Amino acid sequence: MADETSDVVVVGAGLIGLATAWRLAADGIQVTVCDPTPGSQTSSVAAGMLAPVTEVEFGEDELLALNLASVAAWPAFAEELEALTGQSAGLNRTGTLSVAYDIDDAAAIRRLADYQRRLGLEVEELTGRQTRKREPLLAAGVAAGVWVPGDHSVDNRQAVATLLKAAELTGVRIIRQRVTRILTTGTTAVGVELEDGTSLRAGQIIAAAGPWSAQLAGIPDELKVPVRPLKGEILRLRVPEAYRPALNHTVRATARGFAVYLVPRPGGELVVGATTSELGYDTRVLAGGVFALLRDARTVLPITDELELVETVAGLRPATPDNAPILGPSGLDGLLWATGHYRNGVLLTPITADVIAETVRTGVLPKLAEPFLAARFGAMPKVTR
Ligand code: GLY
Repeated sequence: MADETSDVVVVGAGLIGLATAWRLAADGIQVTVCDPTPGSQTSSVAAGMLAPVTEVEFGEDELLALNLASVAAWPAFAEELEALTGQSAGLNRTGTLSVAYDIDDAAAIRRLADYQRRLGLEVEELTGRQTRKREPLLAAGVAAGVWVPGDHSVDNRQAVATLLKAAELTGVRIIRQRVTRILTTGTTAVGVELEDGTSLRAGQIIAAAGPWSAQLAGIPDELKVPVRPLKGEILRLRVPEAYRPALNHTVRATARGFAVYLVPRPGGELVVGATTSELGYDTRVLAGGVFALLRDARTVLPITDELELVETVAGLRPATPDNAPILGPSGLDGLLWATGHYRNGVLLTPITADVIAETVRTGVLPKLAEPFLAARFGAMPKVTR
């Protein structure tokens, strides 16, 4: 039997893969996405924060520019998805409150606020009283806060569901199988092999396999990308009607030196995250992780004790050596990377989809994405114009 064909094959149906597939299919390109369990991994485990300001790290200026471009792109991206599908994309534009529990925590968040201000980011320092005025159920002893109006959140599970619908409506074909190998002829990627042994030929392959990207067989060793899984445990709590809304904004707290975030959803869910552990592909939820998250959440939000613990889950962030994604040419003709989004996958979904779709359409990676070429990690050819 002859191999099946598609103009484009996307490896991985997380938010990045689905959004890219949708963008390309909307341009009339024939797109097939391969994933054994679409949308079910990191994209559904995440808390969905859009946090370019509150998650800024010292010295990551190029990543900050990409993150800011993507947070700005989210509203139009969500509107387009909603107009097409008739269902919510899950965007909640609530702003974020950084909270310091004690005076040492306050010194830490003020240091970060200084840096954020030097970068020209919008932040407003608050006293403990002003912080509790914005979130009255915070612990009475909360020492200080920083209001960050531009950091929002997305109900990432809702976004996955809506992107799956958008993909279906634009004619994206989804094959529920794992890609076992990228097929090459010389230095050109020409298709993928699936776990049932069949293959699919394509003029363009997009590798959006998140933490599994480094495991794709068929790519020469020198062109493999240094993406590794970084485990995170996360909790989902339910706020009883009587206490809603427990929080009005995303809260990122530093509680006796420990970081925790609490992301409220309009329906009463409160997402609490996240641990960080280098344990390979292990996704067991450990008691110590749940303990630490609940300890820190209840320190800043004592009412946590009254909430129903609905879910504990662990996911794998696709981490890279410099915390930034890997976008664009791979060194193999016909293969583009859209991976390594680390802590920023939900945030970077709109901009990644746009950048990769434009690269497929024009053959040129947009300038904004050039700092994120795989070539920065090795001997791959640099992009030429
Ligand atoms: N961006 C949130 C996390 O990685 O836990």
